[in-house]
Amino acid sequence: MKKTRYAAVGTGGRIVMFIDPIVKTYGADAELVGLCDTSETRRTYHQQRLSREYGIPPVKTYADFDQMMDEQRPDCVIVCVPDYLHHEFIVRALDRGADVISEKPLTTDADKYRQIAEAVQRTGRHVRTTFNMRWTAGIGKVRELIAAGEIGEVKHVDFEYFLNTSHGADYFRRWHSQKKFSGGLLIHKSTHHFDVINWWINGIPRQVFAMGDLVFYGKKNAEKRGDHKLTTYRRYQENPDPAADPFHLDIAENETMRALYLDAEKDSGYLRDENVFREGITIEDSMSLLIKYRDGTMVTYSLNAYSPSEGFRASISGDRGRIEYYEPHATHIITGDEKVELLSTKHQSSLILQKHFQEPQNVEIEVLTGGHGGGDPRLQEQIFSHPPPADTMGRNAGHEQGAASLLIGAAANISMTTNQPVQISDLVELRPDAIHLNELT
Ligand SMILES: NC(=O)c1ccc[n+]([C@@H]2O[C@H](COP(=O)([O-])OP(=O)(O)OC[C@H]3O[C@@H](n4cnc5c(N)ncnc54)[C@H](O)[C@@H]3O)[C@@H](O)[C@H]2O)c1
Repeated sequence: MKKTRYAAVGTGGRIVMFIDPIVKTYGADAELVGLCDTSETRRTYHQQRLSREYGIPPVKTYADFDQMMDEQRPDCVIVCVPDYLHHEFIVRALDRGADVISEKPLTTDADKYRQIAEAVQRTGRHVRTTFNMRWTAGIGKVRELIAAGEIGEVKHVDFEYFLNTSHGADYFRRWHSQKKFSGGLLIHKSTHHFDVINWWINGIPRQVFAMGDLVFYGKKNAEKRGDHKLTTYRRYQENPDPAADPFHLDIAENETMRALYLDAEKDSGYLRDENVFREGITIEDSMSLLIKYRDGTMVTYSLNAYSPSEGFRASISGDRGRIEYYEPHATHIITGDEKVELLSTKHQSSLILQKHFQEPQNVEIEVLTGGHGGGDPRLQEQIFSHPPPADTMGRNAGHEQGAASLLIGAAANISMTTNQPVQISDLVELRPDAIHLNELT
C-alpha cells in the first residue's frame, strides 16, 4: 500500500508529537515530506534533529507553505502553528486537495470556523481535530461507565480544572497571553475540557454564560500583593536575581528551549520567556461558566491558572447515580522535549461510582505510559497506522466535533464582554437537528 505523505506547518514545541512517530514508528505506512515554518532556526532544528536521532536524510524545509504544497503534494497537512492561524492553513491545505490534522483548538472563533466548514464543504476533504485527552485511560473509563448506563441519564456535570504556578504561569509568558493569538485560555486550554464533557455526555452545547478576569498574573495584580520586585524585568533572561523569583524560567538552560526559542529570536523576534507580571496581558486567569446542552444537561465549569497544584475534578450526576473523577497532574512546563512526561502516571487518579441507594465503589483505572497520560501515543497510533485499531468508543473527532468544543469558548468570550448568555446557534448553525455529539463529524 502507498505510504501517506505528510507535511507539517508550524515546527515549534508541539510538532514533535506528530513528526517523530511518523519517522520513528510508522515509517512503513507514513512518510514525512516537508516541514514549513517562518522561522528558519526552528524548521532547521527539527530537520537536523530528525536526521540525527533517526538516521533519515534531511526532510525538505520551507518558509513558503504554498511552495511546499506545490512541490511535495502531501496527502495530509499537520497544522501546528499558533491557534489564531489554524484556519488559514487548514483552508489552504484543503483547497490544495490535502486532508488536515489540526492541533486543538480547531480555531479561535466562529468566523474562522465558518471558513473551515465552507472549505470542507467545497473540497470534500477531511479535517481531524486532535483531542488527545479522549485517549487517556481515566477519561475513557468515565465515558465507558456513562455509555453503559451506570448512572442513568446524565443531567448535570461540575468540572473544575486548576493549572499550577509552573504550567499555568507558562501560558502568561508566551503568545498564549494575547487573546488575539490564543483566544484566551477558554479557547486554548478549555477546548480540551469542553471536548471531554461533550464526549462523556455525548452532547452538543446550546447556551453559555461566562465570567472571567485577570486576578493573579499581570503587573497590577503583583503590585497589589506587594510583589513589585517580580515586575521589574521585561523577560526572565533579564532577571538580575533568578533565585529570588519563583516564576523564573531560564530558556538558555534547557537544550530544546534554547535551540527552539532563544536561538530563533534573531529570525522570529518571538520572546518565549516574558515576565508573567508585566503589563499588556489580555487573557483571563480565572473563569467560570454555565453551559446548557441541547438535551437539557447543565454544566458548571471553572478554570484557574494560579493554583499550587494541578489537575481536575469532575462530578457527573445522572438520574440513577453519580461519578466522581479526580485526576491530579504533575508539575511540568511544556518544552517539546519528548523526555518530559507531561502528565505523570505516578500521580494517582481516582474514580468513584455511586449508584442511587448503594455504597460508593472505587473503579480501577489502567495505567498508561507516554505523554499526556498515555493519550499522545494512542492518538498517534490511530492517526498514522494503516489500518488503525478499531475506534470502538468514537474517540476520533472531525471538524464539527472540534467546533462543538471551541464554540463554548468563543461564546464564553462574547458572554464575558456583554455580561449576557450566548446562544451558540447565533454564532454557527452546527447541524441544528442534531442532539448528540456522535451525530457530528
Ligand atoms: N494537544 C496538546 O496537548 C497541545 C500541547 C501543546 C500545544 N498544542 C497546540 O499546538 C500548536 C503549536 O503550539 P506550540 O506549543 O508548538 O507553539 P510554538 O510557539 O512552539 O510553535 C508554533 C510554531 O509556528 C510557527 N509559525 C508561526 N506563524 C507561522 C506562519 N505564518 N507560517 C508558518 N509557521 C508559523 C512559529 O514560528 C513556531 O515555530 C498550538 O495550536 C497549540 O495549541 C497542543
